[in-house]
Amino acid sequence: MQDPEKIADFILSHLTLNLEQAQELLELSDQSQLLEELYHHLGKEIERGEIDEKIRSNARDSMNQAQKEFYLREQLRAIKKELGEDDLEEIEVLREKLDKLELADEVKIEVKRQINRLERTSPDSMEAAVIRNYLEWIFGLPWTIHTPDNLDIEHAKCVLDSDHHGLKDIKDRILDFISIRKLKQDGFAPILCFVGPPGTGKTSLGQSIAKSLGRTYARISLGGVKDEAEIRGHRRTYVGAMPGRFIQAIRKAGSCNPVIMIDELDKIGSDFRGDPSAAMLEVLDPHQNKTFYDNYLGIPFDISKVMFIATANSLETISDPLRDRMEVIELSGYTMEEKQEIARRHLIAKAISDSGLTEDKVCIDSLVVGDIISNYTKESGVRQLERIIRKLCSKAARSIVEENKSIIFSAENLDRYLGPVDS
Ligand SMILES: Nc1ncnc2c1ncn2[C@@H]1O[C@H](COP(=O)(O)OP(=O)(O)O)[C@@H](O)[C@H]1O
Ligand SMILES: [Mg+2]
Repeated sequence: MQDPEKIADFILSHLTLNLEQAQELLELSDQSQLLEELYHHLGKEIERGEIDEKIRSNARDSMNQAQKEFYLREQLRAIKKELGEDDLEEIEVLREKLDKLELADEVKIEVKRQINRLERTSPDSMEAAVIRNYLEWIFGLPWTIHTPDNLDIEHAKCVLDSDHHGLKDIKDRILDFISIRKLKQDGFAPILCFVGPPGTGKTSLGQSIAKSLGRTYARISLGGVKDEAEIRGHRRTYVGAMPGRFIQAIRKAGSCNPVIMIDELDKIGSDFRGDPSAAMLEVLDPHQNKTFYDNYLGIPFDISKVMFIATANSLETISDPLRDRMEVIELSGYTMEEKQEIARRHLIAKAISDSGLTEDKVCIDSLVVGDIISNYTKESGVRQLERIIRKLCSKAARSIVEENKSIIFSAENLDRYLGPVDS
């Protein structure tokens, strides 16, 4: 551009001037004066630009971490929206959930890291599914849910007696425990181990204990467990990784101080995949289990508030250190009279109501029970006895449905329903 007039017009049209200033310039008749004025204005403009820039860069420096994060997230949101991957709502929800949980810092940091990772991965990818699954586990665990113990001895006595006949030693031990709890809130819970033949009420007692204490309950069966990862969890890098059984049980129980029944502790195995009973030692150690580390979670979980109860058929296959951790209570099996009493008070009523009958429609008297015990069962417990009583109840139910007739069982007609006595 060579023509001074054109240059002047051009610059004039690009300057940010208000109406009066522009008018003033246009009214100047002398061209060189006009150019000089324009030069002046341009200088001012440049100066203003520089100051602007300076302020902006100062402000950027002083933008704190939180603002920066917010700003970047907004950008990310915009980008994701453009890409059609607008799953930010999910992320927001997760962040809010995390904020609401009262977790140790170390735990929060790890979870936050995973949420950030989820945000960065494409929502339909395999990896996102893995992270989502992980976060679901984290948020599914009862980190801070703590049920209050019912320390009313009379109540406990009632519950225990109404579920099980006899078993005085065990019931006493539970009442001792409750008494100690009443005096000292934070004492270590002893780990009880019920040892005895099948059907002597070991497993069902655990449930009763939970009920009497007002705690939630979960059961872990260790029969045939050979892989250490079953207890301590798989690393997340595994396909289909899962937390170990203890973490699973705690999630199922829904509180961080449940009663957890470790069933069939003596059936635990070991092979090349590690020694699960060594992992059990850690679980049952009151000094270590405050920070029980599950490989899947990758963060510690406090299981020291859990009341563990183990059961076993015999002590022989339980390793010494493991046995040392526990207080063993033996259930020796029931006598004929005890079985009679258990049937009369518990098994018959349970079987009748479970098969939809009522007491007046079916009669299984003590002679019949005696006959079943001595002729049809060979056991220390009452499992077979219970099964046979249930069988009789189902026969009675069928007779009522088919012929509208109730059956009166007696020692004479028993073989009709149960087959001949095997000698
Ligand atoms: N003392 C008892 N009083 C009432 N029911 C009992 C008693 N002992 C065992 N039972 C019943 O016998 C059945 C089998 O008991 P379970 O707890 O499975 O035995 P275990 O775990 O020792 O093999 C359950 O239905 C339980 O309620
Ligand atoms: Mg059992």
